[in-house]
Amino acid sequence: LNEVITTRSKLPQINNPSEAADLIAKAKNIIVISGAGISTSLGIPDFRSDKGLYAALKSRLGPGANPTDVFTLDVFRKDPELFYSIAEKVLPPDQIYTPFHSFIKKLSDEGKLLRNYTQNIDAVEDNAGIPAEKIIRCHGSFHKANCETSDCTYSTEGSSIFPNIREKKLAFCPRCAPKRPDVLKSKCANYASYGVMRPGITFFGENLPQAYDESIDEDEKNCDLLIVAGTSLKVPPVSKIIDEIATDVPRILINMDPIHHTDFDINLLGYSDDAAFYLAGLLGWKLDHETFEAKS
Ligand code: APR
Repeated sequence: LNEVITTRSKLPQINNPSEAADLIAKAKNIIVISGAGISTSLGIPDFRSDKGLYAALKSRLGPGANPTDVFTLDVFRKDPELFYSIAEKVLPPDQIYTPFHSFIKKLSDEGKLLRNYTQNIDAVEDNAGIPAEKIIRCHGSFHKANCETSDCTYSTEGSSIFPNIREKKLAFCPRCAPKRPDVLKSKCANYASYGVMRPGITFFGENLPQAYDESIDEDEKNCDLLIVAGTSLKVPPVSKIIDEIATDVPRILINMDPIHHTDFDINLLGYSDDAAFYLAGLLGWKLDHETFEAKS
């Protein structure tokens, strides 16, 4: 874990990296912004790292294609099979969670977690027992699946389409499918609108869930420490939260890669699970997680 201190002009210089623990000890309203990086130790790929989902897709989709198409609403409507062909890689795992998820849970147990704004759709936060009211799933989740047909309100448990996703086969709405004409992609612009089921994740081009809008302004006002973990912080509006929080609120980055487009007071660069152990050790906290071989 490399502890890199940067000083922002607005704050007195933080002299010692382990002051991250002091900041956490003092804070009462911590916002954690988390991204795919905190789940990679479970084998769930992140998106933009060299071994991430987009790199894998680039090689598959061929030169010139934009891998984010897979999570873009227009593309899903035209060609839902693309999404169905890779979604299994980001399906929520059963039970398992990482020490960093345990660390977020511990912040909540200690009454310090104001909110975890997660960009992840893997719902690993649930496995770690982080209270639902403390989680804002900014990019939705697989918890529900809805029919894409515009006038159909059919909705079901997200897990009902997991077998299709695992078999890379489209899931169709039980209400619309029988009426569904035998639509060939070539004949139909909006293939998905003929009863294809889609999970409740936020596709590029969609608004964030209402829960985000209902909490973000108040949370930004009440936040007294910001922790950003496992994210490249590239996707608005989540990437803008840091600029909307008062400049005198300290901010800590926990990430493999530095983030150059914004300032942090402390950069704990390395594995988020190692940072979880490091900070818990300094705080005298025992993390509640399944056995985990910390990476060497
Ligand atoms: N520990 C700490 N950081 C890690 C680890 C790890 N074990 N593994 C990866 N990282 C870091 C990487 O260095 C990278 O900076 O996590 C970050 C992951 O960044 P992205 O792959 O861009 O993922 P994320 O920021 O969550 O993407 C945001 O983009 O594609 C959309 O909707 C999708 O929610 C996603 C959003």
